Amino acid sequence: MDINFTSIIPSIPFILQGIWITLQIVLLSLLIGFAWGIVLALCKISRIKPLMWLADVYTSIFRGTPLVLQLLLIYYGLPQLLGFPIEPYPAAVAAFSLNSAAYISEIIRAGINAIDKGQTEASMALGIPYSKMMKDIIMPQAIKNILPALMNEFITLTKESAIVTVIGVQDIMRRAYQVGADTYNYFAPLIFAGLIYYCLVMVLTLLGKGIEGRMKRSD
Ligand code: ARG
Repeated sequence: MDINFTSIIPSIPFILQGIWITLQIVLLSLLIGFAWGIVLALCKISRIKPLMWLADVYTSIFRGTPLVLQLLLIYYGLPQLLGFPIEPYPAAVAAFSLNSAAYISEIIRAGINAIDKGQTEASMALGIPYSKMMKDIIMPQAIKNILPALMNEFITLTKESAIVTVIGVQDIMRRAYQVGADTYNYFAPLIFAGLIYYCLVMVLTLLGKGIEGRMKRSD
């Protein structure tokens, strides 16, 4: 067995630089996915049939096909249609945002549906307009309830982001793989990458627990 952990020491800063790339992709995708997810959720709960149908079809396509396929389609397939190339980084953010929005829209829809109907009825009885009711009454409560599920999505995206390696984004995973290829020693850098992902997920888990604790207090 030839496992040499000391040989990766000079490459540690190189691998660590991938953390920022990974986090950038995940944070940006989560933000865009959240905004797009709200729009989709609102379409789903609207009583306008074509909108409901479109949002449902969207979700079923993005949840029903592998994320890696969506990523490859955007990076390699879409340029064929558009006639110009897409850089790996925006392609990754696009794939993750579009995919995450499908999951987030379901989380938000469930969150909105869990709010007591009496709240909508009371708002309507008071003559509060739909947009104001959603923005100031329903959404704040729904978001509070779905925070744990959103944190879960954050964790999923963080780990799933490792697939951007296939289109050449220099994230944690790709850097670890490169160090392995350069030194003919894959075990140590890959274990190191695993440790980084694990630490990131642990930080997010603690953050989620902290937020949940705060929410309970405010209840
Ligand atoms: N491996 C799954 C897929 O390829 C991950 C989907 C992403 N999940 C998420 N919650 N955004 O379909």
